[in-house]
Amino acid sequence: MNVTILVGSQWGDEGKGKIVDILSDRYDIVARYQGGANAGHTVIIGDKKFILHLIPSGILRENIICVIGNGVVIDPKALLDEIKILEDSGINIKGRLLISQNAHLIMPYHKILDSISESGSSKIGTTGRGIGPCYIDKFARKGIKIVDLLDKNILEEKIKCNLEEKNNILSKIYNHDELNVQEIIDEYLEFDKSIDQYIIDVPSYLNQAISDEKSILLEGAQGTMLDIDHGTYPFVTSSHPTSGGACTGTGIPPTKITSIIGIVKAYTTRVGLGPFPTELLGNEGEKLREEGAEYGATTGRPRRCGWFDAYLLNYSRQINGIERAAITKLDVLSYLDEIKICVGYEINGKKIKTFPSDLNQMFKAKPIYEAVPGWKEDISQAKYFDDLPNAAQDYLSFISQKSGFEISMISVGPRRDQTIEL
Ligand code: GDP
Ligand code: IMO
Ligand code: MG
Repeated sequence: MNVTILVGSQWGDEGKGKIVDILSDRYDIVARYQGGANAGHTVIIGDKKFILHLIPSGILRENIICVIGNGVVIDPKALLDEIKILEDSGINIKGRLLISQNAHLIMPYHKILDSISESGSSKIGTTGRGIGPCYIDKFARKGIKIVDLLDKNILEEKIKCNLEEKNNILSKIYNHDELNVQEIIDEYLEFDKSIDQYIIDVPSYLNQAISDEKSILLEGAQGTMLDIDHGTYPFVTSSHPTSGGACTGTGIPPTKITSIIGIVKAYTTRVGLGPFPTELLGNEGEKLREEGAEYGATTGRPRRCGWFDAYLLNYSRQINGIERAAITKLDVLSYLDEIKICVGYEINGKKIKTFPSDLNQMFKAKPIYEAVPGWKEDISQAKYFDDLPNAAQDYLSFISQKSGFEISMISVGPRRDQTIEL
């Protein structure tokens, strides 16, 4: 039995797409368990670049079945656009994509409410994909699910009921135009024609697959520090990117999980607002952004960049149960004379003993750094660990030891062949 969770260990964009693509070769099924089209997972194959938002990154290998679990929130338009892009590139989707009947639908009002909320004083720097408002409706037990697409009457009834409330909120609180009920019903009935064929009962399917000794890779979106409970709340997303979310988001019981791999960028980035203790501001941050091409795969926004934070990684390892890590983007650090690693935080001049659990502490946290020499040579062609310069090997040993995980894979470039396995 092999059911592996692949989790983003920092603030997202760790290079999950690339590693899922590499690993999916060894699995029968790849499943997404949370998030939505806020994700942007990049896979580069030859001279082609694919950015997956909703469809698991395993779709680029033809024998893999891809599953979208109940924990995901689905914007049908984004999904159909993505299917079209893949099909236009010659990738066969039919019979390979399965969608949970219990996944919730992103509705037009979710995107409007997301953007209204972002224009107010409680701005988070969201991706504007309607993610938060959709999960709000899910937890308020008002959401519309994929299964509702299958029954015209139920769909109409639910859209009417939701719009009664949403139109009140839009017009009376936000002075926004009301939405037309019939237009939305027609639009979603139209989506149903294309989406119907993919809908299944995901927990039954995946548990049967496990009984049949099929192997499953569970692809997390976002990252640990964006988790609604364990991240830097409120500067988080509205789901559980952490490994625990993989079970609730697919219906696979925890007893069936066999391993947990953390995807760990060799430095740190974050998009949007919120605390970031090791952030590099000014020229140093800009240089790292340029070297790492750190611009959002979904929104194109410049990512904030900073040093590797082993203290944060220790927390992430603990919350997720990470045993092995895939280190990505090591090549990006090749320009540095010296590399800093955060090994702890100080608050008001005092070293703290446990990772800050509240936002104010996190904002006050000052990193305690250790420094190691850089290697100053191109490592993007390295095929084996021994090909790496000593200083790069030492950096890896240092971060692995300080973060408490073993390294099983090292990525030295965006392409498939720029990967070292240990
Ligand atoms: P994800 O959301 O975790 O899948 O990550 P993104 O796709 O948003 O961002 C990672 C970016 O880094 C993408 O542009 C990848 O093509 C690129 N990338 C992945 N691994 C490496 C690597 O080892 N080195 C370099 N230079 N780029 C990488
Ligand atoms: P992948 O899967 C990085 C961030 C947003 C914002 C916060 C809330 O590509 O790693 P949301 O739209 O989810 O309500 O925004 O979360 N965010 C991400 N940051 N990578 C992502 O996904 C992200 N998805 C959301 O920038 O700070
Ligand atoms: Mg991304």
